[in-house]
Amino acid sequence: MFTTDTAAYAAYIVAALLFILALAGLSKHETARAGNTFGALGMGVALAATLALAFGHGMDNTGLVLLIVAVLIGAAIGLWRARVVEMTGMPELIALLHSFIGAAAVMVGWNRYFKVEADPDGAAAQELDLLGLLGIHAAEVTISVFIGAVTLTGSIVAFLKLSERMKSTPMVLPGKNVLNIGAVVAFVAMTAWFVIDPQLWMLILITVLALALGWHLVASIGGGDMPVVVSMLNSYSGWAAAALGFLLLNDLLIIVGALVGSSGAFLSYIMCKGMNRSFISVIAGGFGIEAAPSGDTDYGEHREVLADEVAEILAHATSVVITPGYGMAVAQAQYPVAEVTAKLRERGVNVRFGIHPVAGRLPGHMNVLLAEAKVPYDIVLEMDEINDDLSDTDVVLVIGANDTVNPSAAEDPASPIAGMPVLEVWNAREVIVFKRSMATGYAGVQNPLFFRENTRMLFGDAKDRVEDIIHHLGAMQPAGR
Ligand code: TAP
Repeated sequence: MFTTDTAAYAAYIVAALLFILALAGLSKHETARAGNTFGALGMGVALAATLALAFGHGMDNTGLVLLIVAVLIGAAIGLWRARVVEMTGMPELIALLHSFIGAAAVMVGWNRYFKVEADPDGAAAQELDLLGLLGIHAAEVTISVFIGAVTLTGSIVAFLKLSERMKSTPMVLPGKNVLNIGAVVAFVAMTAWFVIDPQLWMLILITVLALALGWHLVASIGGGDMPVVVSMLNSYSGWAAAALGFLLLNDLLIIVGALVGSSGAFLSYIMCKGMNRSFISVIAGGFGIEAAPSGDTDYGEHREVLADEVAEILAHATSVVITPGYGMAVAQAQYPVAEVTAKLRERGVNVRFGIHPVAGRLPGHMNVLLAEAKVPYDIVLEMDEINDDLSDTDVVLVIGANDTVNPSAAEDPASPIAGMPVLEVWNAREVIVFKRSMATGYAGVQNPLFFRENTRMLFGDAKDRVEDIIHHLGAMQPAGR
């Protein structure tokens, strides 16, 4: 017989398919918009089906009103944030959204505890008892609370670090690995105990332990490795949602949670490979950062250059490589950068771009900005494609990049970013660095590049300085090539 339940479960299958299509779409530039639309449609179908299910299962009018109000408030906040968020603020918004999923998993876990374990004579507990599922339910409660709490505080720390409200340097507690492993072992032991004798104090202890572990895991990771952390938390939030699905007996949550959890884990794996990090060490919040950042080293004096001199150098160069970074996004310098590129190409200069996989604050951040400014795709190369050519390059313009061109990643094994592949710009004949001060980059480590013989600093806002260069180039004689 066709009931609300069958209709809702059919709608869940449709929603699950739409989510799979969303993931497939989001994996490519050209289909990303369609992927987003599938995701939004899937969520709409899922919400409607859940509402119908809840209503069909005797939810009263108060419950219905509360649910609709919650959805409307959530949708309004979501729409507002999505409209006003800057491209550079995207990772921190994503981190914050992950924390909500963590919080939901903790709250649902607690709610189920009060409904079942704390009320053994209640209908819910009796029903589970008859099916012999009380123990499994208790384990689901602790697992959901544990994963949720780790995701909650881990994401809050990621948000604080990404929004620069907290220092991005890694917190290094003595014996941090032992602390992390100890917390997981304690959780497993407490879960076993909770299944036998579910006491409130134990659930409180598990929650506090997991909150502390989540905080510690992400706080111990240095700024340069935050991109991997964000995708790892994405994965955790998926597993938290899947745990919720088991608790609430909701198949769609299990499917969606597994999709997010596994795709996030896979993305973390790919990013770890790109950043030369060990996957296991990332999940364990380690990254092997036992060394303190080498902040006291005296690198010598840096040398400055002015925009008109840079214009001269560029006009007489044969090959130029531009390596943009987060500062280009902050200054919105991509348009003048595209203009200077066009002007130099008109003069016969071979201009190319070298893009580091984690330049900026989002995967593909620089590619999007350059595409927006209509820089031809064929001169925008990945780090691996350009690194070997840098030694044959006359001038490299480092525009608002810092960590992604830091030689200590390649040369100083004690550096917090040691081992991370970087753009080896120092091999070029001349390097011009555009930034406003001698401040460190996102990872909080000094960059010896700025003090090298062949490097000169062009201080100021990247957009203003590039515009100055365009102005000086405009005033020059056309090239006689
Ligand atoms: P960063 O190391 O973040 O350095 C950016 C530099 O831009 C800063 O040193 C800053 O120096 C300069 N800057 C800021 N505003 C500027 C402006 N208006 N004009 C000129 N310069 C300006 O940049 P990066 O090389 O792109 O490295 C990215 C970092 O972010 C890596 O550590 C990466 O791991 C991390 N991260 C990346 C992602 C992804 S997925 N891409 C996500 C999260 C974190 P001044 O203040 O002196 O101007």
